[in-house]
Amino acid sequence: MSNDTLTITDNRTGQTYEIPVTHDTINAMDLRQIKVNPDDFGMLSYDPGFKNTASTKSAITYIDGGKGILRYRGYPIEQLAGKSNFLEVAYLVMFGELPTEDQYQKWSYDILHHTFLHENIKQLMDAFRHDAHPMGMFIATVAALSTYYPEARNIFNEKDRMKQIVRLIAKVPTIAAFSYRHSRGLPYVYPDNDLSYAGNFLSMLDKMTQVKYTPKPELEKALDVLFTLHVDHEQNCGTATMRVIGSSNTDPYSAMAGAAAALYGPLHGGANEAVLRMLMEIGDVKNVPAFVKGVKSRERLLMGFGHRVYKNYDPRARIIKKIADEVFEITGRNALLDIALELERIALEDDFFVQRSLYPNVDFYSGIIYQAMGFPVAMFPVLFAIPRTVGWLAQWIELLNDKEQKIARPRQIFLGEDERDYVPMSVR
Ligand code: ACO
Repeated sequence: MSNDTLTITDNRTGQTYEIPVTHDTINAMDLRQIKVNPDDFGMLSYDPGFKNTASTKSAITYIDGGKGILRYRGYPIEQLAGKSNFLEVAYLVMFGELPTEDQYQKWSYDILHHTFLHENIKQLMDAFRHDAHPMGMFIATVAALSTYYPEARNIFNEKDRMKQIVRLIAKVPTIAAFSYRHSRGLPYVYPDNDLSYAGNFLSMLDKMTQVKYTPKPELEKALDVLFTLHVDHEQNCGTATMRVIGSSNTDPYSAMAGAAAALYGPLHGGANEAVLRMLMEIGDVKNVPAFVKGVKSRERLLMGFGHRVYKNYDPRARIIKKIADEVFEITGRNALLDIALELERIALEDDFFVQRSLYPNVDFYSGIIYQAMGFPVAMFPVLFAIPRTVGWLAQWIELLNDKEQKIARPRQIFLGEDERDYVPMSVR
């Protein structure tokens, strides 16, 4: 008997099955042979929330949640955040290797020269109410782009596919900035292709009457690092959604609108917004103990804490905490930081959080920086979606090239009524 197998004895029948183990994993379809009667469907595994189910093999992002390790294509996030930049990391995540000088120049040029939106998109965005949530506008506008680029449906044509990838990475900051300007009642600012990816985004947000907008280098750098940290995070809710929708061969705009919708939720990328609202509600350091008491008695969640994968400090939160000080030197200190630091101090010492391995995640400090930079709270999930576009698209390409993938279609355990006859309304 090979060692790389799992022996399962079905105590209902006494039968034994030998199931191959590869990468510490069994193939769920190998369970199907386990039956009591020959006409049974066969055994399923039950895993709500996919807590212990691998849906794919991937070579993009590695996380060791116990040790707090995050790597893109093998490179530690700390090195990429410290030494690289968003567009270089985007290339790395998309193509698997760091670019040469020529590759980097071409990639940056392509992205920075596809930033404009079709003029009709402005009318589409104008149709939203003045107080529309920018993430709702973002999701709807990304979906609408599929109608502007019908060739996006040719998802197995590499050239067409790459065109949409460049367009999406290039245009998401423009969509995000337009949704911000709309909510402020300000005229849209067209992209400035001479600026960096982050610099151009700041220009589209802030520019008023200046002929040329010059971003503050420290804020441009901080935003670039924040973007770098958010590029990918393996099979999280949004990325899994991208893959599920992509598995039916949908175009990338429609699939990405779905992924962004998943990201919007307060348990996922909407958590940075929820953290800020929570800190504002706490209002003062002296109110922190009472709030923590409420969390422990399960009246509340401590937003920005806990993670499905990290059972240690989220390495991205550590980096963000460091850049907060650099940002505050320019913008002035955000008063909410003291409340956040006190929450973290108490939580990291408290048994409730220690026993459950609850540590700050990426969203705990990012919102505090974004707010200090002047972003309204509702923009926070959009700021997450911009860089995550790269991860979604890289994972989508990996899905399309993976011969083992099939349309996503989970099973269920049916516990409803057995067959019964329809009863007319008059006799119910
Ligand atoms: N506050 C209080 N208790 C929490 C928190 C929290 N933030 N997170 C988890 N717990 C508790 C749960 O109640 C549970 O306790 P129990 O075992 O006594 O029932 C235990 O810790 C384990 O938590 P689960 O909910 O089983 O963990 P899961 O992996 O399903 O959830 C999640 C992870 C959704 C991130 C969760 O920790 C949470 O809701 N956090 C707050 C929202 C948040 O910050 N989300 C952003 C995540 S990062 C990202 O998506 C970019």
